[in-house]
Amino acid sequence: MGTILVTGGAGYIGSHVARQLGERSERIVTLDNLSTGFRAAVLYGDLVVGDTGDATTVARVLRDYGVDTVMHFAAHIVVPESVADPLKYYRNNTASTRTLLQCCVEAGVRHFVFSSTAAVYGIPAGGVASEDTPTAPINPYGRSKLMSEWMLADVAAATPLRYAALRYFNVAGADPGGRIGQSTPAATHLIKVACEHVVGKRDHVAIFGTDYDTPDGTGVRDYIHVEDLAAAHLNALDYLRGGGAPVTLNCGYGRGFSVREVLDCVAAVASRPLTIREAPRRAGDPPTLVAEARLIGRILDWVPHYRDLPGIVGTALAWEWTLTDRGTDDVARTEQAKLSSPVVA
Ligand code: UFG
Repeated sequence: MGTILVTGGAGYIGSHVARQLGERSERIVTLDNLSTGFRAAVLYGDLVVGDTGDATTVARVLRDYGVDTVMHFAAHIVVPESVADPLKYYRNNTASTRTLLQCCVEAGVRHFVFSSTAAVYGIPAGGVASEDTPTAPINPYGRSKLMSEWMLADVAAATPLRYAALRYFNVAGADPGGRIGQSTPAATHLIKVACEHVVGKRDHVAIFGTDYDTPDGTGVRDYIHVEDLAAAHLNALDYLRGGGAPVTLNCGYGRGFSVREVLDCVAAVASRPLTIREAPRRAGDPPTLVAEARLIGRILDWVPHYRDLPGIVGTALAWEWTLTDRGTDDVARTEQAKLSSPVVA
């Protein structure tokens, strides 16, 4: 087996996948520019500090490490930011993926696992999206990822490279072993925000919209534990190594929770009431977005183990306490990590 290149392996989802790969004794190398990632999140293999849009660096890593598989996580992921600064997203998510793919083709990389998103569906009718629901992204973030999916499909049709594109729904939770988690400063995701409130980093949680056409008026999402999501990538790797054809799969559980249900759960897990403020709808939010999620189980033999919401919230909250107990804020930790870490340059 060749080495697996994990781009964005110092980030939230990439670091969980890299950890599971390392635990399985796979040979891995991480490429991350540390713009939002953390050196301390790289638990296995070398970290090369660099950009996926830098063809020279990528080509060197593919050659020096004998890479035959790429798992591509490096991306910007904040939807409102993509609306305000679309070219940042088309450069970092789309153009860099093009560069990476070109290097992969030139180096003869055989397998590519791509981190895609449910945002490619936009606002699907009925709030449930299956893999053949028409794609209709409503923001630059979703479009930047969908364009990468299209490039992958075209490259796979023209070269021996085969891929799995995984469309993530709402990823949350943290490593059950407590070693890594979501450390992003200025987080916007509901469960992370609520956990920051519990540990005292925010004085309240806002509910964005209470007048949606949903059972309790708040937005409904399909929350998937990062540990199950990471495992799906290892299954995708096995599938491709076994000769599987290119495939695009939803990553969710096929069930939704409302914002109020999530906040009730956080309060129950934390054993304390939350300070909640009702706020207007957030631009671009669909009322309901839930995965039709049967295909991934069938194609990848993927069996989730962390479906229950209290477990997702519990690991997210435990990680938030870990960050707090370390006594330094996220930004300071990033700077410190950048200055003091031994890295492959
Ligand atoms: N929400 C709040 N208060 C908050 C944060 C979120 O009420 O402080 C609500 C949102 O309005 C939404 C739900 O909680 O109804 C979930 O919001 P998140 O920000 O946690 O996640 P999104 O559903 O907006 O985004 C996720 C991924 C994106 C991806 C999108 C696909 O994070 O990367 O799903 O729809 F694009």
